[in-house]
Amino acid sequence: MGEIYRFMSESRCGIRFLYRICGLSTSTIHGYPAKISEMSKFRPLFIEKIEDGDVPAIIRIADECRLSPWSENDYREEAKRNDSIMLRLANETREIIGFIVGRHVAGSQIDGANDAELYNIGVTKIFRGAGWGTLLLQSFLAQCKNDSVHNVWLDVRASNTHAIEFYKKRGFVEFAERKRFYTNPVEHSIVMRFTCSTQ
Ligand SMILES: CC(C)(COP(=O)(O)OP(=O)(O)OC[C@H]1O[C@@H](n2cnc3c(N)ncnc32)[C@H](O)[C@@H]1OP(=O)(O)O)[C@@H](O)C(=O)NCCC(=O)NCCS
Repeated sequence: MGEIYRFMSESRCGIRFLYRICGLSTSTIHGYPAKISEMSKFRPLFIEKIEDGDVPAIIRIADECRLSPWSENDYREEAKRNDSIMLRLANETREIIGFIVGRHVAGSQIDGANDAELYNIGVTKIFRGAGWGTLLLQSFLAQCKNDSVHNVWLDVRASNTHAIEFYKKRGFVEFAERKRFYTNPVEHSIVMRFTCSTQ
C-alpha cells in the first residue's frame, strides 16, 4: 500500500500545499477514490501556491480549457492579494498541468464566518480523467476549511455539464441560475455552493 504525504506550512503568502504521491491506495485522497493506476504514471506531483512566474503557463492551460478569459495581469494582480487562494499542480519535472483560483469573500453568516469563491479550475487535456482535478479541488476546499470558510461559491456555464457533474459529485449543490451572466457567447450561469461545515 502506498502513501500520500501532505505537507502544509505557512509561507509569506499563506498556506503552501505540497503533495508527494507514491503509489496511492484509493482511500487516501481526502476520502475520494482516485484513478490510482493512472495517477501513478505521473508521480510525484506537487500542489503549491501559484507564483508570478507561473502565470504564462496558467494562461496556456486556461486557453486550452476555454475558461473565462483572465489576462496575465488579472492573474498577477490576483496573486498579490492576501485573500486569494491560487494553487498550481505540477508534475515531477515541475511542468504545470493544472491550477485552481479563488478568493475569500465576505460571508452572509450572522456568526461572521467568511465565504470563498472559486473562479477557475483547469487541468491540461491529456492529464484529465486521472484524478488531478479532484485533488486540486480538494486542496482548495481543505484550505478553505482550514481558514474557517463557511460556503464556497462558484458560477459555471449552464452548458458545461461535465463540470457541473464534476462539482456535484464532490459535494456542490445547484443554488441558483444567473441569466445571461456570461458573454462570448452569452449564456446563463449555474451558481453552485459547497458548505464546508456539513462535509
Ligand atoms: C473539470 C476538470 C478540472 C476536471 O479535471 P480532471 O483532472 O479531469 O478531474 P478528475 O479526473 O478528478 O475527474 C473527472 C471526471 O471525469 C471523468 N473522466 C474520464 N475521462 C475523462 C477525460 N478524458 N476527460 C475528462 N474527464 C474524464 C473522470 O473519470 C471523473 O469522473 P467522476 O466524476 O465520475 O469521478 C477538467 O475536466 C477541466 O479542466 N475541464 C475544462 C475546464 C472547466 O470546465 N473548468 C470548470 C469551469 S467552472
